[in-house]
Amino acid sequence: MPYRILHVSDLHVGPPFCKPIAEALVRQAHALRPDLLVISGDFVQRADFPSQWEAARTLRAALPSPQLVVPGNHDVPLFNLYLRLFAPLALYRQMISRDLNPVFTLPGLVVVGAVTAHGLTLDGGKVSQAQAAALRTILGRYGPDTCKIVVWHHPVMNPPGPYRDRVIEAAPAAIRLLDACNVELLLCGHLHVTFIGNTRNVVHDLHQGTIICQSGTTTSRRGHGPEQGKHSCNLIEVDAQAIKISSLLYQAASDRFESTAEYVFPRRTGEF
Ligand SMILES: [Fe+2]
Ligand SMILES: [Fe+2]
Repeated sequence: MPYRILHVSDLHVGPPFCKPIAEALVRQAHALRPDLLVISGDFVQRADFPSQWEAARTLRAALPSPQLVVPGNHDVPLFNLYLRLFAPLALYRQMISRDLNPVFTLPGLVVVGAVTAHGLTLDGGKVSQAQAAALRTILGRYGPDTCKIVVWHHPVMNPPGPYRDRVIEAAPAAIRLLDACNVELLLCGHLHVTFIGNTRNVVHDLHQGTIICQSGTTTSRRGHGPEQGKHSCNLIEVDAQAIKISSLLYQAASDRFESTAEYVFPRRTGEF
């Protein structure tokens, strides 16, 4: 420690993709020299098209490593019903990462990703019973001084605005799971708008709650609400005292993602 995590999301390689923004991201990401790059899903716009996967794989390779990546709902084919029903993440596994539930560790830090996009739902996501059990097992191996971070594509709570029903299935249970596992920070995407919050605002009987760090779309034209036509990502710094989140918004004048808001949360002092 301290560690630096760059969190990008919703690349949407395909028609809404903005190549110049992606080039700026690659330049800046290397300059930042993050200890970890997180990509929280929606690599492609339409998972049926091999050319989009090729371009997404090229972009991923151009970004710095190490990386922890999870798929989003757009990474599941829409038109190919066979793949959608029987092998929804086969293309993602072939082109992006075979590991659907990745784990990354450094001394004092554990980051656990999980696929929340499954074949049958078009937009929603879920954490299965097996994934919940795995999360408890993995995080149970780490003591109170280790910063525990989870990465899901789908959010567990809505930011202000017209985002009803776009959170993960059984969101209160997912929030309680994060709380029970002493997860300090959830990195997510999907809604194409930046949001920093805390699960204590929506579920009131939690021990300490979990900080929400949601990225907008980093490289596509699909930004929503206040981020319509904008591109965003987050820079997270973790040390023994605090978690600092800088919300970065792309600025054409500097051709860079610039910090527009900064949040500091004290690290937890122990298990409940
Ligand atoms: Fe998306
Ligand atoms: Fe999504």
